[in-house]
Amino acid sequence: MGSRPNILGLFLWLYYLAISGSKFVASQSNTGAPAVVQGTAYISGTVSVGTTDVDFICATLDWWPPQKSFSPLKIRMGGTLQDNVRYQTVGDQTPCTGFVQNSAGPFGFTQGCLPMARWDALNVFFKEAGARIIFGLNALTGRTVGSDGTATGAWNSTNAESLITYTINKGVDDHLVDKILDPNYLGGESQTFSSLQTILKNSGTSTVAWVGEAGGAYNSGHNHVTNTFVFSFWYLDQLGMAASFDTKTYCRQSLVGGNYGLLNTTTFVPNPDYYSALLFHRLMGRKVLATTFNGTNKVRAYTHCAQRSKGITLLLINLDGNNTAQVGVSISNVIVTQPLNRNSAPLSANSGGIIREEYHLTAANGDLQSQTVLLNGKPLTVDSNRGFLWRNSSLATHECEPFATCNCWSLLYSVCALSQYSGSCL
Ligand SMILES: *[C@@H]1O[C@H](CO)[C@@H](O)[C@H](O)[C@H]1NC(C)=O
Ligand SMILES: *[C@@H]1O[C@H](CO)[C@@H](O)[C@H](O)[C@H]1NC(C)=O
Ligand SMILES: *[C@@H]1O[C@H](CO)[C@@H](O)[C@H](O)[C@H]1NC(C)=O
Ligand SMILES: *[C@@H]1O[C@H](CO)[C@@H](O)[C@H](O)[C@H]1NC(C)=O
Ligand SMILES: *[C@@H]1O[C@H](CO)[C@@H](O)[C@H](O)[C@H]1NC(C)=O
Repeated sequence: MGSRPNILGLFLWLYYLAISGSKFVASQSNTGAPAVVQGTAYISGTVSVGTTDVDFICATLDWWPPQKSFSPLKIRMGGTLQDNVRYQTVGDQTPCTGFVQNSAGPFGFTQGCLPMARWDALNVFFKEAGARIIFGLNALTGRTVGSDGTATGAWNSTNAESLITYTINKGVDDHLVDKILDPNYLGGESQTFSSLQTILKNSGTSTVAWVGEAGGAYNSGHNHVTNTFVFSFWYLDQLGMAASFDTKTYCRQSLVGGNYGLLNTTTFVPNPDYYSALLFHRLMGRKVLATTFNGTNKVRAYTHCAQRSKGITLLLINLDGNNTAQVGVSISNVIVTQPLNRNSAPLSANSGGIIREEYHLTAANGDLQSQTVLLNGKPLTVDSNRGFLWRNSSLATHECEPFATCNCWSLLYSVCALSQYSGSCL
């Protein structure tokens, strides 16, 4: 052996560069360049926190007749007794019970109350059925009904208003885009995976976790959300998070169907999530490395061993619409097996000296709700002969610098070949 192996942790080396990177960022902001936030992904080079199945990415395919729903059926809910209904409201302490037959009450019944939980369930049902709903409001609230059936007095709209406000706020999907871009919302889902993992660990069984049917939005998804670029923020975060809790397989509801299919129901053209998942499949290997991210909560980071080369693939999700993220990478406990001389030629890998490849996914025209996703600036489409051309579009660099620049509202897979080091990915 000509040279003594240098067992200096790569951690230190990368940490040094991370510091110099901060200076670079600062000088950039001084010159009025686009706003930049900095962060560091701390990756454990030795601890693998999960191993996914080879076919981790999965999509469900439901039986889906051409007219699954009764659409355009209209359902009218109400009838005479609608004028006997009180709507439960937030914070309402009065017991909420149904109608009871009572000859003294109007129309032969006591007043009935519609609990909010029941109302929610009805709305889910309506949406599932694809029906349009005509809901009769109680028009007699506050009015006095005389023995001849005529009503006098003014309508008290307070209760009706609170039902409408509740329904709008609930508006199952209306704020979906805001939620998807909210790091607290995305992060909150980790509780589910974490609990499941704990249960499995404590049960001492050989049972493994699968996500069976995840569509992200209830029912058939939401047009302009679940079939557009913005949904990839949620989907890739789910894939990364599930894998980091040792979930073996993640099934997306669905391959085709509704608005959340990976493929467009009528044209079979892939939706953005199809490509996002395809890159996950091709770039993220089975071993999952523990990753924490410091700097901003708007950047989410997941690391796997690389799929095709020795090294790692870092997935960065930048939820920030204003700031580019400059991400330093620090890999701990990875042993450098050759002397590292920063003044010498750049680190090289076997593949013609290319040791880093970047795959940036962005929305066409910067429109998060576009159905077209750009890979390194070029629209992704399916080629009629050869399928999806992806490798040619990667941005390759000859140095595996510990930085990734993740633009506003973008997704980035950064593949770093680390063939000169030993760690759990080699
Ligand atoms: C209208 O009904 C609400 C309860 O829903 C009540 O608090 C309010 O006092 C009523 N208004 C009038 C003018 O009676
Ligand atoms: C399928 O694609 C067509 C043509 O681009 C589009 O008009 C339609 O909204 C898409 N359907 C869904 C469910 O995304
Ligand atoms: C990340 O930041 C938190 C809080 O600022 C700090 O406690 C923690 O040590 C940091 N982690 C690393 C690896 O620097
Ligand atoms: C960008 O920042 C401005 C000012 O803080 C804020 O009003 C705006 O909503 C932000 N835009 C996005 C997309 O986050
Ligand atoms: C893609 O790259 C391969 C070699 O890596 C090359 O043979 C092929 O011509 C390239 N295709 C395009 C469309 O550039």
